[in-house]
Amino acid sequence: MPVDVVLLLYSSWILGACVLVSGADRILRFSEQGTFKILQVADMHYGNGASTGCSDLTATQMPFCSDLNTTAFVRRLIHEESPDLIVFTGDNIDWAASDAKVSMDAAFAPAIESNIPWAAVLGNHDVESNLRRPELMEYIAQLKNSLAKVIDPPAEGVYGWGNFYHSVLGPAGADTENLSLLNLYFLDSGDNSKLPGIKGYDWIRRSQQIWFSNLSQKLRAASSAPALAFFHIPLPEYDTVLYRDQISGRQLEDVYSAPVNSGFFSTLLESGDVKATFVGHDHINDYCGKLMGVHLCYGGGTGYHAYGRVGVERRARIIVATINEEVQGHFPNISTWKRLDDTHMSKIDTELLEL
Ligand SMILES: *[C@@H]1O[C@H](CO)[C@@H](O)[C@H](O)[C@H]1NC(C)=O
Ligand SMILES: *[C@@H]1O[C@H](CO)[C@@H](O)[C@H](O)[C@H]1NC(C)=O
Ligand SMILES: *[C@@H]1O[C@H](CO)[C@@H](O)[C@H](O)[C@H]1NC(C)=O
Ligand SMILES: *[C@@H]1O[C@H](CO)[C@@H](O)[C@H](O)[C@H]1NC(C)=O
Repeated sequence: MPVDVVLLLYSSWILGACVLVSGADRILRFSEQGTFKILQVADMHYGNGASTGCSDLTATQMPFCSDLNTTAFVRRLIHEESPDLIVFTGDNIDWAASDAKVSMDAAFAPAIESNIPWAAVLGNHDVESNLRRPELMEYIAQLKNSLAKVIDPPAEGVYGWGNFYHSVLGPAGADTENLSLLNLYFLDSGDNSKLPGIKGYDWIRRSQQIWFSNLSQKLRAASSAPALAFFHIPLPEYDTVLYRDQISGRQLEDVYSAPVNSGFFSTLLESGDVKATFVGHDHINDYCGKLMGVHLCYGGGTGYHAYGRVGVERRARIIVATINEEVQGHFPNISTWKRLDDTHMSKIDTELLEL
């Protein structure tokens, strides 16, 4: 390669790096209308794009479907809802991806081109291409407008790649403009158990829970803002809630949690700030249920290559926090609904998640 081309590439890399740093440092805040809207995209299961087929559609739909339908759906969602943040809750890519970076570029492209800040965590399938968790997360963290981090705040010996948080500040110009009104936690729920003889999915480890409690305590010392948590694999309590409370939405398959209960739910209760958790993993479950004051919600499967069920449309969850000074001081209440990938992008299961 000629030297001037190398220099050109090098300088555009530096330029790129600056842009990326500014993406990571982007401040999230409520709009002047007092809202903050999140689009949760679960389980895209992106492969190689046009050559990767779809699952669980009717025989007539199958031949005309590929990963590009997932891209088109995520674009429609962004266009329809204009979110303030897009969160991908894992299994963004899977075994069908021959080059993880190429597939992640394509999978996250609708978010990147929208110029809306976005974040992602990993699921259990992301590692089935040619990168391991650390490399996947380092790659995601440096993509344009990505708010994802490998670990933030940094700490030694914490398990997982993609444990981080972001605060959502009050509207610009408001007296809450420097105060967090909502905190968002992102955690790595792993892939498969690493203990010999223990089969099944991994779990949110003790070291992550200590890290989380520590962080939550620090955030609670600064403001009494409520928080939401995003990760991939449901906690065993997603099953418990089915016997305790009425759920909204559908439970069309079992809850596929880790084989053991790591206690993260009790850690959440002890900290007290997390009012709702949002996971993916079980594509045809899209319910929310409230257990001991915490709303346990699924996103519902978004990706076409992923398994689903014939007749159950691919879908995504929208979460809106609204500040209502009269009802709850400065802190927001949370409402949520889902959008289906049908002709009119049907809006279903709208509900208020009472805090
Ligand atoms: C996938 O996209 C193609 C091309 O736009 C379209 O014809 C087809 O109906 C889509 N399939 C589904 C299941 O949405
Ligand atoms: C927020 O912080 C900025 C920068 O430090 C300061 O200029 C501004 O006055 C602060 N706003 C409020 C409401 O305290
Ligand atoms: C907990 O917080 C303290 C003080 O901020 C910090 O020094 C320590 O590294 C943190 N530990 C973990 C595991 O996050
Ligand atoms: C939640 O906030 C919205 C917007 O301010 C408001 O209309 C609604 O009444 C609030 N609900 C509760 C229970 O606070």
